[in-house]
Amino acid sequence: MLKISARMLTNRQLFQLHMGLPSVVSDPLEIVKAEGIYLYDVSGDQYIDLVSGVSVSNVGHRHPMVLSAISEQLEAYMHVMVYGKFLHSPQVKLAARLASVLPPALQSVFFVNSGSEAIEGALKLAKRLTNRTELVSFRHAYHGGTAGALSMMGHERLKNAFRPLLPATRLLDFNAVDQVHQISSQTAAVLIEPVQAEAGIILPEPGFLQALRDRCDETGAILIFDEVQMGFGRSGKLFAFEKEAVIPDILCLAKAMGGGMPLGAFISSKERMQALAHHPELGHITTFGGHPVSCAASLAALEIILDDELHLKAEDKGRMYEDALHDHAAIRQIRRSGLMLGIELQPDIPMYELMQQIFKQRLIVDQFLFNDQSFRIAPPLTITHAEIEESAGRIVQALNLTIGS
Ligand SMILES: Cc1ncc(COP(=O)(O)O)c(C=O)c1O
Repeated sequence: MLKISARMLTNRQLFQLHMGLPSVVSDPLEIVKAEGIYLYDVSGDQYIDLVSGVSVSNVGHRHPMVLSAISEQLEAYMHVMVYGKFLHSPQVKLAARLASVLPPALQSVFFVNSGSEAIEGALKLAKRLTNRTELVSFRHAYHGGTAGALSMMGHERLKNAFRPLLPATRLLDFNAVDQVHQISSQTAAVLIEPVQAEAGIILPEPGFLQALRDRCDETGAILIFDEVQMGFGRSGKLFAFEKEAVIPDILCLAKAMGGGMPLGAFISSKERMQALAHHPELGHITTFGGHPVSCAASLAALEIILDDELHLKAEDKGRMYEDALHDHAAIRQIRRSGLMLGIELQPDIPMYELMQQIFKQRLIVDQFLFNDQSFRIAPPLTITHAEIEESAGRIVQALNLTIGS
């Protein structure tokens, strides 16, 4: 039988034949270059990225300072040893810089590879600290795809086929202060996104996060904030917890943390974090966590955000989109935290058709996992006012074409 060589096939055919994928993607965009807020495909078309690789590219694609930090580290070393055995200067510099912008209760950084792994590490730390098993999370929460993170997911659709998952999990409703009493002296951890992202950008009502903090203090449960999606300036503050001035016991970060490279972390106090080094020693192990190249990129990205005050500018930039879109007839509601918007359409507006119209306008947007009638706008925080006006104008045009006006 004639064996077809991979070289005779197009990338598109190889994609269909050999890529393991979690969904059926018939005609994916083939990207050949990314720069700032722009993506370029194989046919030379330019797109404005309004998703940032799902809250990753906060400093834009291939920021020159991130690139030079990566090159410099590549000249020195890449992976040399599993996490924590050697001192890697990119890790310690990054940990110290993060500590300098975090409160005293969050000074010890455990580096991992991803958001899901940050959640796993945080749950393990909470169990180890409390010697309890019950884990509390919230309906419509997304915390990642690994077994522990999946156990905390607030939606059955992606979860049910994989049971049994972690036992003793309990779901509460987001913003339901009257359910907070269900957190008890059996509870090891309460895991929450301070702004629920995949639920469609659901903001905490004033006092809700504080009520959780108070109840965790009363019961000894560990409060974990998942800022994998909202961290690093997206919310208009460097971290979303600053908005409500409620400080978690453990903070989980990833996505934008690496400036485009894979990196995550869970952060707690030195005292708490030490529990992973005793009874048992090696309480969490990772080979690549805190990869030196990722840490170098991450430090550069953090300095860019702080120097250019991207976090402080996110609020005004987000409001520009809100002002441009809020009175459109096709839009039912806009929910927003900084430069992260959930645009909810009127019930009769067909989402699929709108997505196609937006794509024709050469814009990249995305839907949410747990909110079918909303789509997200979350461009790089570096986007300029002129680029916001341009992209908002194109969204209006796509909305007009969808409703036929
Ligand atoms: C809030 C939140 N937590 C955790 C994760 C999991 O992160 P990762 O995909 O890096 O494992 C995600 C990913 O979308 C997320 O949005």
